[in-house]
Amino acid sequence: SAPLRLGIAGLGTVGVGVVRIIRQQAALLEARTGRKVTISAVSARSKGKDRGVNLSDYAWEDDPVALATRDDVDVFVELMGGDEGPAKDATEAALNAGKDVVTANKAMLAIHGQALAELAEAKNRVIRYEAAVAGGIPVIKALLEGLAGNEIKRVMGVMNGSCNYILTRMESSGGTYQDIFAEADGLGYLEADPQLDVGGIDAAHKLAILSSIAFGTKVDFDGIQLEGIERVTIEDIKAAADMGYKIKLLGVTQKTGRGLEQRMQPCLVPDTSPLGQLEGGTNMVVLEGDAVGQIVLRGAGAGEGPTASAVMADICDIARGVRGTVFGQPASTLESATAALTKLP
Ligand code: NAP
Ligand code: HSE
Repeated sequence: SAPLRLGIAGLGTVGVGVVRIIRQQAALLEARTGRKVTISAVSARSKGKDRGVNLSDYAWEDDPVALATRDDVDVFVELMGGDEGPAKDATEAALNAGKDVVTANKAMLAIHGQALAELAEAKNRVIRYEAAVAGGIPVIKALLEGLAGNEIKRVMGVMNGSCNYILTRMESSGGTYQDIFAEADGLGYLEADPQLDVGGIDAAHKLAILSSIAFGTKVDFDGIQLEGIERVTIEDIKAAADMGYKIKLLGVTQKTGRGLEQRMQPCLVPDTSPLGQLEGGTNMVVLEGDAVGQIVLRGAGAGEGPTASAVMADICDIARGVRGTVFGQPASTLESATAALTKLP
């Protein structure tokens, strides 16, 4: 069959990881998908930057919208980030031009997911976003496919590696929040805007996406009860430890007697539990379905390899001809999270 031709916008940590896999694993990708996966063109802010990977085989576009709409691009791979601006403009342009989209951009999907899903489905295109939640952990696929026969009861987990690093380092070193924040920043663990991490916003973006798939509701980031880790003190952590608990930035989304409840906040978890044992930058997502019971997924939630691994899963699915709706059912049938709330007893 014809090759699947990509246009990749964003050549930072994730984009370079994707280029590397496509270059290094060409034979494996072709064997698994039945067609070649090729890159037609790439885009980033600075053309001249040395990115440690050979880009000379690909056309260069300064403008991500121009990249997304090229005739020789079948799939637009959005790896720039940001909920507005070029990421959203180029994603919309790609869908309007009849391209499928793969993105790692949880911020864009948490804010504009419903509108983008409606556009994609109207254009008979797919948006795939495995990398947007919990990096290398295939949690989107698990919910969309593996648990398709289950009524989902609850999804919870630790979905921001930077916060988990800060909280576990505070406990192991006895350092203050300010000390460990500075350490994490120095190690390059935090987002360019660290408030996205420590304010719980990045993790809440991820939770909003999971809620939509799990409960058939429109993505509702504003409906999340949100608190970051900035006010967690070393005294809190010591007091929790004395009682046999750890403090984790825990996301929970579930249907309760009060309706759909989405929370992302520091929580006490028993220190002997799998969540309590989760150290460093690792993520863990717990899925509960009526038929399957509980499933625990654990792994790297960030970084070049793990995140590029998830992007490649989406690219391979598209190469194999996998289609489907964006959030697991037609966007027009997703109910508002508020309606889900009032409908329940
Ligand atoms: P990054 O290292 O900051 O790279 C961003 C890339 O986008 C850079 O190459 C940058 O160009 C390019 N870019 C930014 N604005 C642009 C514009 N206006 N026009 C063209 N290119 C532009 O970011 P990243 O860590 O790879 O993250 C990319 C996406 O993946 C984000 O949505 C992020 O949330 C998501 N994600 C990241 C991770 C992770 O571990 N890093 C994990 C999961 C999801 P220059 O290089 O020229 O500046
Ligand atoms: N800043 C995010 C984290 C990156 O620490 O988990 C992955 O989304």
